[in-house]
Amino acid sequence: MKRTKINALLILEQSPGDVLVKGWVRTKRDSKDFSFMEVNDGSCLSNIQVIADKDLINYPDIGTIITGSSVSIMGTLAESPGKGQKWEVKAKNVEIINLAPESYPLQKKRHSDEFLRTIAHLRPRTNKFGAAFRLRSEMAWAVHKFYREKGFRYLTTPLITGSDCEGAGEMFRVTSLDPETVKKMGKMDFSLDFFGRESNLTVSGQLSAEMFAMALGDVYTFGPTFRAENSNTSRHVAEFWMLEPEMAFCDLKGNMDHGEELVKYLTRHAVEECAEDMALFMNFVDKTLARRIDVILNSEFARITYTDAVDILKKSGQVFEFPVEFGTDLQSEHERFLAEVYCKKPVFLTDYPEQIKPFYMRVNDDGKTVAAVDLLVPGIGELIGGSQREERLDVLEGRMKQMNLPLENYWWYLDSRRYGSVPHSGFGLGFERFLMMITGIGNIRDVIPFPRTPGSIDF
Ligand code: 4AD
Ligand code: MG
Repeated sequence: MKRTKINALLILEQSPGDVLVKGWVRTKRDSKDFSFMEVNDGSCLSNIQVIADKDLINYPDIGTIITGSSVSIMGTLAESPGKGQKWEVKAKNVEIINLAPESYPLQKKRHSDEFLRTIAHLRPRTNKFGAAFRLRSEMAWAVHKFYREKGFRYLTTPLITGSDCEGAGEMFRVTSLDPETVKKMGKMDFSLDFFGRESNLTVSGQLSAEMFAMALGDVYTFGPTFRAENSNTSRHVAEFWMLEPEMAFCDLKGNMDHGEELVKYLTRHAVEECAEDMALFMNFVDKTLARRIDVILNSEFARITYTDAVDILKKSGQVFEFPVEFGTDLQSEHERFLAEVYCKKPVFLTDYPEQIKPFYMRVNDDGKTVAAVDLLVPGIGELIGGSQREERLDVLEGRMKQMNLPLENYWWYLDSRRYGSVPHSGFGLGFERFLMMITGIGNIRDVIPFPRTPGSIDF
């Protein structure tokens, strides 16, 4: 007999008779003549209730089943007299695949997120984390669906690179030399290393994506990126997934329009296609989530220049830990004030001072600011960072020299400005931050399967 997944069973209009269900026991209750088991197979949040009658030949064995055990159940799908569920399975055969011992750590109904992080290998078996990772999967598919519908090409960019896109120097080194050899060398000689020069894990696929935008038009990359920044916050991990569209013949306004459309599309997809899991987040994780999602879907995102934002912050009467002046990087307290208190909705901040932004951003006519854009979202802070790119070879080279970048390493990048350069734009959306936004989950460690943070690489 072929196994049916629980999500497929629960939407049946009519019973097909006998069914085969396989999964993990969430709870078991015994009464005089029956055992009731709630079985979950991960296909959806809901369990299926199984009723095992004492007449079953292996009823004594069934009595030993405890939470966490894996079972295979053949039985009749019957209408459930119980409240809240349409179907239940009246077991004809209960096969114990593996009996979990009492030490199974998820016996209790509720555990703290902190505790569950210490058993990240088991936490997807809880309701909340099961929902979070089903949603994560669904959102990744929605990303591809959105871009397919818009005619973008999907590009996979290398994870090992020889350049630092963001120029922030927060990179993990990649080497095939063993520490002993390096010690003998006295001084690191990159020419002896695998690639013959310094290499690292990428912080962004943007530079490669720009090359392909100059060929295929509209492209996107979606993959892991790595940052060795030592910030132990609830919004940073060392390995995270970034979605990066790059669009030829697109200016900063087009970039923002695209970002707004993307965020709304993905959010709508979550609400419409993942209703059961989203209801869990709205009811048990964040009571304000439904309202915040409504704002995302139904408001026009605000758009303010950095210069105006600094003005707003200075006139706000608010006391900030870090003072703001034109030229300072905004801290998360400023970003949150702008999105949560001032705009009360997502806001694009544009045209930042050139000295606080990377080399590739297009210099504005004022000579002081660049065509940068960040999307700040209530409860999250920065969700998107991007810009219109500097397409003028001379201006770009000038900025790179000013920033002491080794131009010879970027010869290929500069070629794109030599041969048929066009205005183009793009951004990076932090996939985990997006998931935090639509689930209300407050810590980034809880929306990525196995988080990598400073000092922590278990699992
Ligand atoms: O603003 P960032 O650094 O932009 C770039 O890397 C550009 N090259 C992207 C581009 O234009 N193609 O990063 C983009 C986004 C941030 O807005 C944030 O959402 C997320 O990536 N992000 C992180 N997410 C989790 N952990 C970290 N350490 C992150 N650093 C950035
Ligand atoms: Mg940024």
